[in-house]
Amino acid sequence: LPEISLIAGPASADLAEKVAKRLGVRPVNAELRVFSDGESKIKIEKPGRNCAIVQSTHPPPDTHLMQALLMAHKCADGANVCAVIPYLSYARQDRAFLEGEVVSIALVAKLLAAAGVRHVVTVDIHSKLAMSHFGSIENISSTPLLAEYASKMKLKRPIAVSPDAGGAERAKDFARQLKIDSITLKKSRDRTTGEVAIEEKLGVDVSGRDAILVDDMISSGGSIVKSAQVLRKNGIGKVYAMCAHALLIGDAAQKIKAAGVQDIIATNSVPGEYSNVDLSPAIAQALKSYYSSA
Ligand code: R5P
Repeated sequence: LPEISLIAGPASADLAEKVAKRLGVRPVNAELRVFSDGESKIKIEKPGRNCAIVQSTHPPPDTHLMQALLMAHKCADGANVCAVIPYLSYARQDRAFLEGEVVSIALVAKLLAAAGVRHVVTVDIHSKLAMSHFGSIENISSTPLLAEYASKMKLKRPIAVSPDAGGAERAKDFARQLKIDSITLKKSRDRTTGEVAIEEKLGVDVSGRDAILVDDMISSGGSIVKSAQVLRKNGIGKVYAMCAHALLIGDAAQKIKAAGVQDIIATNSVPGEYSNVDLSPAIAQALKSYYSSA
């Protein structure tokens, strides 16, 4: 395995540190200075020939994305640059839902390539369509790590629940690993207002069972709150929410708890109070296989 320069981006310093430890290297610091107008300046000393930049793009997404681009641009200069972006913002805008809308993730892919990124490693990207915009990308599934965590929870006849059809496969996969059942709720979103609605009739009896809501991300918390309300109307036991990316904007966590959700469990793709499932083993493995075959 060639020597990897593990660059700790300002958005993901803790995660980078953990990945570096697993690779047996010392993380290279990306020194950040933010000017009064909000511009970021990055300084990286002696980046090396194989640079893996670790930087999630949670809020503020544009700033974190720009910092990733600046780091890649600095490292590029003939080097093999891999961008580890566990939470990849803009992936939800993978198509024009309404006429005239920009397919944002297509531009993000182009910008990263233009800055010198040869390969992207991400975690639970929103969709296959979002992924199709990248030349070279690996999508790590956090499902085995979340399922392992769930296997240690004391649950009553647990059932995995996807809030919508888009996440059905993820919840099924999660359920398969735990050898439990899964169901998919019928969620619809008003594409103009963003309002979410979920059909109350489930068609299966879930009364008295504990539920684990499984989603790729929790942002405003709207999807989880509505899902929990529907499950409770159907007599569910305890409800837990698991996701890869806990953005939890504003008071999302409080709203989720107020809706009767016992706990939120997420990976450390986005740093925060609920981000207790460590992705570093999977990321270190992905980097080892990329650089050993590069
Ligand atoms: C949507 O399709 C995603 O999979 C998530 O369900 C959604 O983006 C979560 O956002 P929020 O927490 O704002 O409902």
